[in-house]
Amino acid sequence: MKVVHTVEALRDQLRGQLRVAFVPTMGNLHAAHLSLMRMARQHGDPVVASIFVNRLQFGPNEDFDQYPRTLDADIEKLERARDVYALFAPNEREMYPEPQNFKIQPAQALGSILEGEFRPGFFMGVSTVVLKLFSCVQPRVAVFGKKDYQQLMVVRSMCRQFQLPVEILAHETVRDEDGLALSSRNRFLTADERAEAPHLYASLQRLRDEVLSGQTNLAAMEARAAEHLRGRGWDVDYVALRRQRDLLEPAAQELCEGEPLVVLAAARLGTTRLIDNLELQRTP
Ligand code: PAF
Repeated sequence: MKVVHTVEALRDQLRGQLRVAFVPTMGNLHAAHLSLMRMARQHGDPVVASIFVNRLQFGPNEDFDQYPRTLDADIEKLERARDVYALFAPNEREMYPEPQNFKIQPAQALGSILEGEFRPGFFMGVSTVVLKLFSCVQPRVAVFGKKDYQQLMVVRSMCRQFQLPVEILAHETVRDEDGLALSSRNRFLTADERAEAPHLYASLQRLRDEVLSGQTNLAAMEARAAEHLRGRGWDVDYVALRRQRDLLEPAAQELCEGEPLVVLAAARLGTTRLIDNLELQRTP
């Protein structure tokens, strides 16, 4: 695997390549990332991965400084998996050689609800760096995990609206055996918190089952799920049942009909903020 740290070296490696499949990451790679790389390999050649902890998407009180940086171990994992042709691992000066005056601000609803509400500036930071990374790598396809459901939608919407020639592929959330979605932030959980963490997914499953059993009081279902988590010691930002197509609240009628829905949650255990979601498969 080639490891390159500059845009120039990356472009040298990729000259003439028209079928690049790209997996952007912030590193601290785990099994879910490696699965994204495997998927990329099925949809393009060569596969390029990036590792860059993007300051622009972290709020002032968020964990930018604590975010795990494990480049050597990450390179070893990628070498062993043999799916990636080139790893782009720029430093901050390479990605932001001057103050970033041009920033992408996702449109009203999608950018400002749920994660956008609780992490102001997050989607601006993500969209801006993803656009920059796409410009460096010029991929034909790029793979994003469904765990970051809203991020996936924001990136898709950005590509559509800027007519970027990149197909965005979604990879299913990868979970530990007990249901916890894999995330670089799981390593911050204490042993007790790790034992509690699967309850986030369990509460999404319960809410899903309530909807599938015909319950229609959306607000009550969401409040019950949030209260349940609070009772177990979670600090809940949101538990929300939304339409898959735009993450807006379904109308009462849509709850009963076959509108594709997704339930999303974000909550903190101690100092660690976890997010998760679950799509509802329903027959109309
Ligand atoms: O999901 C992530 O790891 C990051 O948000 C991304 C897409 C690599 C942008 O920094």
